[in-house]
Amino acid sequence: MSDSRSDAIVLFGASGDLAKKMTFVSLYRLAARNLLDMPIVGVAFSDWTNETFRKNARADIEATGQSVDEDVWKKMAARMSFIQGDYTKPETYAAVKSALSGVKRPLFYLEIPPSLFEVTVKGLHDADLVSDPGVRVIVEKPFGHDYDSAVALYKSLSSMLGDEQLYRIDHYLGKNAVQNIMVWRFANRLFEPIWNRDHIECVQITMAESFDVADRGSFYDRVGALKDVVQNHIMQVVGLLAMEPPSSTDSAHIHSAQLDVFDAMKPIDPKDYVRGQYDGYSKVDGVAENSTTETFVALRVHIDSWRWAGVPFLIRAGKALADTGTEAVVVLKQPPLDLFGKDRHGGAIPEANWIRIRLGHNDGVQTRVQALDPSNSEDMDSTDVVMNVDFTNALSLEKLPYEQLLGDALDGNATRFATQPIIEGTWTALSPLLEEPGPVHKYEVGTMGPKEADRLTEGLHSWIRPVSPASDRPA
Ligand code: BG6
Repeated sequence: MSDSRSDAIVLFGASGDLAKKMTFVSLYRLAARNLLDMPIVGVAFSDWTNETFRKNARADIEATGQSVDEDVWKKMAARMSFIQGDYTKPETYAAVKSALSGVKRPLFYLEIPPSLFEVTVKGLHDADLVSDPGVRVIVEKPFGHDYDSAVALYKSLSSMLGDEQLYRIDHYLGKNAVQNIMVWRFANRLFEPIWNRDHIECVQITMAESFDVADRGSFYDRVGALKDVVQNHIMQVVGLLAMEPPSSTDSAHIHSAQLDVFDAMKPIDPKDYVRGQYDGYSKVDGVAENSTTETFVALRVHIDSWRWAGVPFLIRAGKALADTGTEAVVVLKQPPLDLFGKDRHGGAIPEANWIRIRLGHNDGVQTRVQALDPSNSEDMDSTDVVMNVDFTNALSLEKLPYEQLLGDALDGNATRFATQPIIEGTWTALSPLLEEPGPVHKYEVGTMGPKEADRLTEGLHSWIRPVSPASDRPA
């Protein structure tokens, strides 16, 4: 084990939904790769024993569809223990301390509501559990609910933790396909020369979910789509799509190149923002009867940099839509001359080229290009075809986002974690929309949101629908 590697992991919120759906399976996969030979301590209010903790974790792992190797599980389970405790009580931290006897650099993972971050870090701090700079603390999103609260939370946590100890998770940064954006752009000669305002008309990012808010009504109604997925996940994708090449793959260089994007991002004009709410949302359990919380947003973002001046980034995200898929589509300008298009016989001009990067739910990249249309080869007409790379087939098995991120945090690698300046930059850009959210437009379940969103694409390529995982539609 290297000097900087954590030697125990402590899960605050071990009986919660995130642990159930993501954490245990990720830890199991790390254990299966021999990367988790350490105590795993669960902490929660629930009245569980060590045995219940192990039994539930095993059931949760299996419920994800992960097959369980008995040898791996036996060793992992033997290292698991549970502490029932109240995060506001010093006894809880005393119990954690005694469970960690002999451990030098635990990793504390706070998968708990943000309202408990400060009290929990204070409990750890007062029990002298975080004084070693090698001890790390991961906090889940959201980091603040606006610019001021993000700054205040940082001030409070950083009075107890060094910057190098605080890891802010954004599971999008743990997705292989999201990190691949950087490799795709900077490891290939093919794309980077055209990745700028001279060749790109607009960039569209769609995060569509065909499911509704289900049982998360009371959480979601306080948050809404902009804060739930745009400020964090989608903005991190924008950072990767728009950044300059970093000088190296060190965290510091990558973060600094990404931060430049948010430094150059203009505060978003409320005129470039459309909100929607699906029919029936206000009937969901936990949602206020007259709720004006948005379940859909569309916005237009401008980055005032040499590379991106004049190229809008069009963003949409929503629930209860027609598709499930997250994609970034880079739409290229038309060639200077339409030599092969049908407009020579009065028809439509050929479709523009685009590069579609599928981010989760069917990872891969597609490029739409023009080819000779054999049915009209006498006229030399062109037609569009799609070049497709499906990462599930082309690359080896992917890591789960949380498997990647928990593994990184255990290693002390902060590259794939959100930084404070970037979080502040995203809140700054979104601030005008929080101040002036505008009306919320109703939309029918199973559509692509309210028609009002179409005005954001005026003069540009219309919204491009995500490719459904089931059909792999080319268009
Ligand atoms: C979460 C949001 O952070 O991300 C959810 O709270 C959203 O509302 C989810 O559904 C989407 O993540 P993914 O990985 O399924 O695209």
